[in-house]
Amino acid sequence: MTEAQTETKPGQRPSHPDITQRKDAWWGEPATIATVFISFIIYATYRVFENNYFESGNFLSPFYSPKLVFDWWKFSPAILILWIPAGFRTTCYYYRKAYYRSFFMTPPACAVDPYGKDGYTGETKFPFVFQNLHRYFFYLAALVLIFLWYDAVVSLFKPEGGMQLSVLSIVMFANCFFLSGYTFGCHAYRHLCGGSLDCFSSCTKAKTRFKVWEFVTKLNEHHMGWAWFSLFSVALTDLYIRQVCTGAASPIVLFQF
Ligand code: FES
Repeated sequence: MTEAQTETKPGQRPSHPDITQRKDAWWGEPATIATVFISFIIYATYRVFENNYFESGNFLSPFYSPKLVFDWWKFSPAILILWIPAGFRTTCYYYRKAYYRSFFMTPPACAVDPYGKDGYTGETKFPFVFQNLHRYFFYLAALVLIFLWYDAVVSLFKPEGGMQLSVLSIVMFANCFFLSGYTFGCHAYRHLCGGSLDCFSSCTKAKTRFKVWEFVTKLNEHHMGWAWFSLFSVALTDLYIRQVCTGAASPIVLFQF
């Protein structure tokens, strides 16, 4: 510590501009997360409002699934559906930590002074009190996931009849796999499976719930990984389908009959 820096007593937070005593690149993680988030938000927003190149034959982009087309709705159908996965991710316990650190800096990292005098105030105040809606977004996101699995299965069928296996179908199934790992490793779902029980062995129902809870816990332990893999997989699946729609890429059919 240089003479110009203020001495910090044990247990006391260093004051600005000496926001931390950490010597490592603590800013690397929040900076990377902010960059990835902003990139994804820009791409997703562009794709939603592009309102084109989202369906080719039996391949449907995950951004537009389920496809909701109504006479009274003159805008992109993606707007009608994307608020569900957006709300699910925005209120996700892991993502909260990530963007509270990256964007609000409350604090930006462990043992680093929070930005602003109030710091983290929890989910008790507007608008953060709406984070408590997460469990309801889980129900809706699980519903959307059923449609995505359906889309992946439908992509195996050729519009003119017969079946085919393509690289694009494999990408769609992989996307569903990652999204399922993310969705069913949700903290709210884990509570739904195993919460509010006094005993895990009192009856068959309790034992079954315990088994499901154990499985969900395994997924939950890697929730951060599932969150990132599924974010990338959904963007890449959409990008691949867009490229197929524009003619810039092919689904790469491996075999068909
Ligand atoms: S806690 Fe992350 S999806 Fe529910």
